[in-house]
Amino acid sequence: MTSHIMPTYNRLPVTFERGEGAWLWDENNNRYLDALSGIAVCSLGHAHPAVHKAICQQSEKLLHTSNVYKIANQERLADKLAEKSGMDNVFFCNSGAEANEAAIKLARKYGHEKGVENPAIIVMEKSFHGRTLATLSATGNSKIQQGFAPLVEGFVRVPYNDINAISQAINNNKNIVAVLVEPIQGEGGVNIPAADYLNKIRSLCDQHELLMMLDEIQTGVGRTGKFLAFQHNNILPDVCTLAKALGNGVPIGACLARGKAAQLLTAGNHGSTFGGNPLACSAALAVLATLDEENLVELAQQKGQAISEGFIKHLQGNKHIVDIRHKGLMIGIELDSPCAELVNSALQQHLLINVTNETTIRLLPPLIIDEQQIKLLVDTLSTLITEYTEQTAQTTLS
Ligand SMILES: Cc1ncc(COP(=O)(O)O)c(C=O)c1O
Repeated sequence: MTSHIMPTYNRLPVTFERGEGAWLWDENNNRYLDALSGIAVCSLGHAHPAVHKAICQQSEKLLHTSNVYKIANQERLADKLAEKSGMDNVFFCNSGAEANEAAIKLARKYGHEKGVENPAIIVMEKSFHGRTLATLSATGNSKIQQGFAPLVEGFVRVPYNDINAISQAINNNKNIVAVLVEPIQGEGGVNIPAADYLNKIRSLCDQHELLMMLDEIQTGVGRTGKFLAFQHNNILPDVCTLAKALGNGVPIGACLARGKAAQLLTAGNHGSTFGGNPLACSAALAVLATLDEENLVELAQQKGQAISEGFIKHLQGNKHIVDIRHKGLMIGIELDSPCAELVNSALQQHLLINVTNETTIRLLPPLIIDEQQIKLLVDTLSTLITEYTEQTAQTTLS
């Protein structure tokens, strides 16, 4: 049968019907272990009772009004996010790309108010910030940009994890007003920078009066073992964007700002019909409460450590493994050659994983993953990797 869906994804041959915790069931009632969480979205697992209850109760009362009225859930959620992040204000939207659009607009407004006519933002190689025109222009991947010229101007690109490159870019260009960076690059290959990278960016931004803008769309909401990844560094950015896990599957995005950046967008500057509506905010409030009640953020550190140690033990001595890295439950296993095929092999073993940047297996399991599921994940995937690397080595020899 011909599909009427635009072919923007190469979809895997499986349809899921229901889920519970870290498990998903397909149409034939086969059970799969989800080690991807819908790409860092369903961190509380599928069908979490707290989220279920919150959205059911809210839908009985009210789904949507408009941002021309006050929205009690939105006020509550903004208070909670401010408390948990140390930021001052929040703009709510529906996705990660939109949250980054808000950040980019905010940086431009900041520049104009400083008297910079053509404000520019420093962005990174291998970064990913979304698929809208501005965010794909900020993204450091030519495949994502191909076919969409003219790109949005005002981005200056430097290598990731290279503080001197940022410093040089600032010194060479008077138009720089902000730095936009992921604390860990997700799509780019689970790239974890030097421990003090963010601290050094903070210092440079202070020194040159630039906005430090962190894209925490993948790293945020507990994924790395802190509520926000920048909390590992004891710093505060000026702007921080969230989406993905904030609603555990109910679409919501947020652009958080602090200090001078928090007052820049005013009435008429920016908006969203759906952003922060009563339904989406009820889900996000339930997510934040559950993270605390179940101590999931702290546990993410221990679980990530256990998974990483498991892989190191099983894959020890395998010369095709370049690196095994993790921060909390953001895990990357880098191989020495492209390994996208592993996604299909894992699916056949009823395990959901992802491969990014061609050679890195990316795991983003739900924060509620338990010990037995961790064991199943490590055992199944280690065996697959071992078989795969043995096979590729043989093919290269013959
Ligand atoms: C770091 C980062 N920024 C932005 C986005 C875009 O988010 P969305 O797909 O919700 O627009 C993503 C999505 O993968 C992401 O990982």
